[in-house]
Amino acid sequence: MDSVEQDKASEQSAPSATVPVALDTFRKSMLDCDIYIRQGDEDGLTLYRKKSQTLDCSDLDRLEKRGIREIFVSLADQEAHRRKMAPEVCRDTTLSPTERYNLLRELSRASFDAAYHSGDVDQVVELVEELGPQMTDVLSDSDLVLSDLFALMDHDDCTYSHSVNVSTYTMLLAKYAGIDDREHLCSIAVGGLLHDLGKRHIDLEVLNKPGKLDKADRRYIEQHPTLGFQDLLPRGDLSWEQLMIVYQHHERYDGQGYPVGVPSSEIHHLAKVATVADVFHAITSERPYRKPMNTDEACSFLADQSGKMFDPGMAKCWISKMKTGVCV
Ligand SMILES: [Fe+2]
Ligand SMILES: [Fe+2]
Repeated sequence: MDSVEQDKASEQSAPSATVPVALDTFRKSMLDCDIYIRQGDEDGLTLYRKKSQTLDCSDLDRLEKRGIREIFVSLADQEAHRRKMAPEVCRDTTLSPTERYNLLRELSRASFDAAYHSGDVDQVVELVEELGPQMTDVLSDSDLVLSDLFALMDHDDCTYSHSVNVSTYTMLLAKYAGIDDREHLCSIAVGGLLHDLGKRHIDLEVLNKPGKLDKADRRYIEQHPTLGFQDLLPRGDLSWEQLMIVYQHHERYDGQGYPVGVPSSEIHHLAKVATVADVFHAITSERPYRKPMNTDEACSFLADQSGKMFDPGMAKCWISKMKTGVCV
């Protein structure tokens, strides 16, 4: 049956928890599940394919011709798609490292959001322990060009983009600073993915307030490193350095940071790496009340804050790599 006719014939409504799947994330394997699409600017979803009718490449072409860039499936089906596709994408050397990285991000977005908002820390940790090593392997490809990677990063400020970007920058900066052991880099990437876990306890209304925050709101938000640390410490399966990335990423080199305001000598060196990564992503991302800084402006900010907010060695290392857009 032609897909348009089939769309019209379908009256079955989508399950309440559907998530989008970008058509770009399909490679050789196809989804074998109920698939929904959004037609035009309609609010609702329409059944496109039943589980028994496999989606093939010609369906994807037809959908793209109709301007449809994503399909919708249940969260469980999307999770099955991610588990199947992520390893395939990581191995696909016909794609550039930045293309593989981009697909990997897309594949993991809905699973991360669902896990993060479920309140189930086990689910989040389980996912990031898969995603961290996958990202590390793709980003360790000798053909990766930092300027290309930066150009394709999402520069929005949603939790997922922020977590993945900070993890990416933290892992890369740790590598540039001399860490070359794969297992160690994977563990740093996982720490980066978890660094703002404590924000799940903070009211979205306060978190997304535009403009300057008052003292009470600031104090409230400043609890997030401690809350994330408290979420993760009892598990016993995370390393001390991963916990320190979570707990100390807002401490400052000059001792004026939070949650404690410890001096530089008491800040874990990987937390110092994460601080550079975290601020770099924050200032280069879109906010409702200000434009994102470009790379040059962000590097000037880092240089200005060297020895104040940032460890001078870490700031210098990141600036030099960003300026040259060097291959990894
Ligand atoms: Fe944070
Ligand atoms: Fe952050």
